[in-house]
Amino acid sequence: MKLDPLGELRATRQCGELRATDAGQPVILLGWVQRRRDLGHLIFLDVRDRTGLAQVVANKEKNPEAHARADQCRPEFVVGVVGTLAKREKPNPALSSGDVEVVAEKIFLLNEARTPPFSLEADTTASEETRLRHRYLDLRRPQLLRNLRTRHRVALAIRRFLDREDFYEIETPFLTRSTPEGARDYLVPSRVHPGHFYALPQSPQLFKQLLMIAGFERYYQLVRCFRDEDLRADRQPEFTQLDLEMAFVAPDAVFRVVEGAMKFAFAAANISVMPPFPRLTYAEALARFGTDKPDTRFGLELAEVSAVFKAAREALKIEIPVHAFVVPGAAETSRKQLDGFAEFVKAQGGRALYYAKVGEKSVESPLEKTLSSRGLEWLQEATKAAAGDLILIVPSDPAQVAGAPHAPTTTVIGALRSHVAQELNLIPAGKWNFLWVTDFPLFEWSPAEKRWVSSHHPFTAPADEDLDKLESDPGRACSKAYDLVLNGWELGSGSIRIHRQDVQQRIFRVLGLSDEEAKERFGFFLEALTYGTPPHGGIALGLDRVVALLCGEKSLREVIAFPKTTQAQDLMADAPARVADAQLDELGLALKPPKKN
Ligand code: AMO
Repeated sequence: MKLDPLGELRATRQCGELRATDAGQPVILLGWVQRRRDLGHLIFLDVRDRTGLAQVVANKEKNPEAHARADQCRPEFVVGVVGTLAKREKPNPALSSGDVEVVAEKIFLLNEARTPPFSLEADTTASEETRLRHRYLDLRRPQLLRNLRTRHRVALAIRRFLDREDFYEIETPFLTRSTPEGARDYLVPSRVHPGHFYALPQSPQLFKQLLMIAGFERYYQLVRCFRDEDLRADRQPEFTQLDLEMAFVAPDAVFRVVEGAMKFAFAAANISVMPPFPRLTYAEALARFGTDKPDTRFGLELAEVSAVFKAAREALKIEIPVHAFVVPGAAETSRKQLDGFAEFVKAQGGRALYYAKVGEKSVESPLEKTLSSRGLEWLQEATKAAAGDLILIVPSDPAQVAGAPHAPTTTVIGALRSHVAQELNLIPAGKWNFLWVTDFPLFEWSPAEKRWVSSHHPFTAPADEDLDKLESDPGRACSKAYDLVLNGWELGSGSIRIHRQDVQQRIFRVLGLSDEEAKERFGFFLEALTYGTPPHGGIALGLDRVVALLCGEKSLREVIAFPKTTQAQDLMADAPARVADAQLDELGLALKPPKKN
């Protein structure tokens, strides 16, 4: 096929921006053919650029040359259209440019295209695997274009806001040492130092603290982080953080900056959010919602009903505490649905699910045999359930109670709360419930490792009043850590940091790191702490998560241009890949046979 050169051809207008007020004007469009409809003497082309679609019409009688060119066009051909804008007889309200069409005078064929392996329409039915293999085609779909445009606008709004707040954006290294954020590191072998490795940063945590020691006072960075961890829809092996740090602050100052950044970011997507965001302590969050990232768009708050079950504990073979929540007006929930909830509880590692249906005169429940009708009335009182309500009850999982001192006992019922809200459609649309969760415990007991591990990371400051508990009762020491939660998603985590070297060293000891090991891994940082470290604190938000929520997407893959699969693969570039023996030799590496599981 004969192709035309681009030459001096330049677009005068964008497809999605054509309006009826411009009718009669000459236009030049450059873009891709989305669809072609051949009515014989008339050929219609929908031409697409990044702003949307425009209808082009080529008339055989009036302009045989343009018609002949339109006849050669196929989907995804690259074209230039020179013509005149005319009002359409039948406007298409689905298109922003739907009131007009371009009457083609000349059509330039700039490039042809093979038939794409899947439909590039908004409602494509292609599998995600096919889409990811040809991501450059998938990115032509309006949904991904819109998502990446939103991402750009959100990042820009954040940068503008932080610039106004006197933050400097400073880059930190990618080739560095391991920073502990709880995941495995991606390692990069050094050619110059055989047997030595860089680690890609799981976050710039230590560097941003070093920038505070250096005296920058207000730092931020939109930064790529790398974590080799089990992937889910809300996790990618490389993802982007809005990372920030401030000197001489208490949590309030960090909250104010983040609230402002979120207000601007959401406004960039035409969503208005109103700081200040509500706050909840970790203990309250677990007691009321059974999770440290509560979705507060709906109620179903938990009540402890252990007293009701105390006597029946042995007969039911359950552990105390027992928690319940009331689903208003759901007494008619079907047996099948209740069985589904019970299966969900089992899948979460829970022991059992009990239910009670509150009627006008009595409470009905399979528990009646064990609790008696008096016990069921007591349950109704304890949960404040009304006639027509359903009460769902979950006892603590024994392993959960025994496994780890101070471990939460409401996580299974907390997960059930969200599941029930989803299944019964109790989550209102259009709500943006931000929430700060504060006062996290400093440590958690790891039954697997049989030692205390940091709940957040080892640089988190203990609450001032708990400094003396570090060694004597670490499980009860509270921290100055906080999380930002939105609609049940953890958007970000941060804390006030340890700025005293002696306290940092004590924390490493509680974590089971000898002074030698701490020196070996973090010596440079421990030393830096001794040169006048200001009190400081900060936070990191997952930018991909912010954008996914704003775009109404469940998976981060929909808001990242070139994401990885849940198997951490780039299907398009086929990474990770084997490398040539020569490359391994140069790095002084030899491969071992893969371990058998
Ligand atoms: P944390 O490890 O909690 O804290 O990470 C902060 C935020 O980053 C996002 N996030 C992820 N997003 C996508 N894929 C992942 N694999 C992934 N892992 C984390 C989440 C999370 O809330 N250095 C500390 C922050 C600090 O203390 O300032 C840190 O990285 O939204």
